[in-house]
Amino acid sequence: MKLSAYEKRVKRRIIGRDHSFFAVCPPGLKRLCKDELMGLGFSKDTLDIIPGGIAFNTRLTTGMQLNLNLRSPSKLLMRISRFKADSFEKLEKKTAAIDWVLYLPQNCTLKFNVTARKSRLYHSDAIAQRCEKIITAQLGSGNGVVSPSGNKSTQTIHIRADHDEFTISLDSTGDLLFKRGIKQNVGKAPLRENLAFAMLYWAGFSTEDILMDPMCGSGTFSLEAAMMKANVPPGFFRSFAFEHWPGFSRKAYDHMKKQARKNIVHFSNKQIFASDIDDMAITALEQNIAHEIFKPIIDVTKQDFFSITPCLISSPQQGVVMLNPPYGKRLGEKIDARSIYREIGKKLAADFKGWRAGIVLPSRECQSYLGLKLELKPIFHGGLEIFAGIGII
Ligand SMILES: C[S@@+](CC[C@H](N)C(=O)[O-])C[C@H]1O[C@@H](n2cnc3c(N)ncnc32)[C@H](O)[C@@H]1O
Repeated sequence: MKLSAYEKRVKRRIIGRDHSFFAVCPPGLKRLCKDELMGLGFSKDTLDIIPGGIAFNTRLTTGMQLNLNLRSPSKLLMRISRFKADSFEKLEKKTAAIDWVLYLPQNCTLKFNVTARKSRLYHSDAIAQRCEKIITAQLGSGNGVVSPSGNKSTQTIHIRADHDEFTISLDSTGDLLFKRGIKQNVGKAPLRENLAFAMLYWAGFSTEDILMDPMCGSGTFSLEAAMMKANVPPGFFRSFAFEHWPGFSRKAYDHMKKQARKNIVHFSNKQIFASDIDDMAITALEQNIAHEIFKPIIDVTKQDFFSITPCLISSPQQGVVMLNPPYGKRLGEKIDARSIYREIGKKLAADFKGWRAGIVLPSRECQSYLGLKLELKPIFHGGLEIFAGIGII
């Protein structure tokens, strides 16, 4: 099939060359993201750990693959321009010089995320308005294409100004990456999926292991572990912003997903044991695991953690237990952290000897209430610094 002049430009300028990508990482998860990228084929010296995340160069097709497969970052940005501008006139000129029709479809709604630091132009709304006018005019000029899906999409454009140096990037992800597209029901204080993944990873959870998730809530640990065991890419059940771009190839992406589907491992016996004391949490989780991949592998029961007996496995070394106990303001009630963590520590020491554990701790002091030797890793949840306690009981 003969390509139009426009398609040739998209192929040459967008598909056929490397772009500068930036994996935005939650605080504390950059090293993990680097490990993930190396596991997906990047060599160490091509990955630049910088404030906020990891920068690297690659093709758009690889960017799609990374969105589909990375568990720890929040999103992937694709940088499309970098320039100096200390006046609106220069900003407008440089923004107009970008070939927007090669990057975005005509029928998209633009959103802006602007930050300016130590720059002449500092008013983020004014920066967004000036840029929006130019981009909308270009996209509406009829020189580009409508989104391949035909649907109207929302595209976030990130503009960073630092000492008058502007960086313009496109959010290739859309909804934050921690949204796996599985949970229909979210509980009271759910942990983000990328934090759940980090804790499982730090505890050394592998496909050989059994997981106990005895305060499961809506089941974030259980679902993440099930995806890991079944080899389901974290982005398998969701869509991404890049699917609306002119450089997107539905055929190539469908092929990628078809390959991933072939590699999914189906289990016939329970490997993950989720329980909670709350009826609503149990009902929510039962609905969340309705998919044929998850139902056979996750066991859901209503049970009090303190009366639980760890499931029988060949050796405790194969067991991982994850706990995100109720704590703090987010649940709208004041909980006595001292007594709950003391009780949890006693229970773990009595019945989970030899198990690898990951426990969410709202503060450093909780470690001493637990009375267990754990490594504390700071993580951020709901804007609060909390800790992941990781170790062997
Ligand atoms: C912070 S939430 C867990 C959220 C979960 N990680 C998620 O992502 O949805 C704490 C959970 O612990 C449960 N819980 C509290 N005390 C419990 C107990 N003694 N036994 C079992 N579950 C308990 C609560 O019902 C609640 O669902």
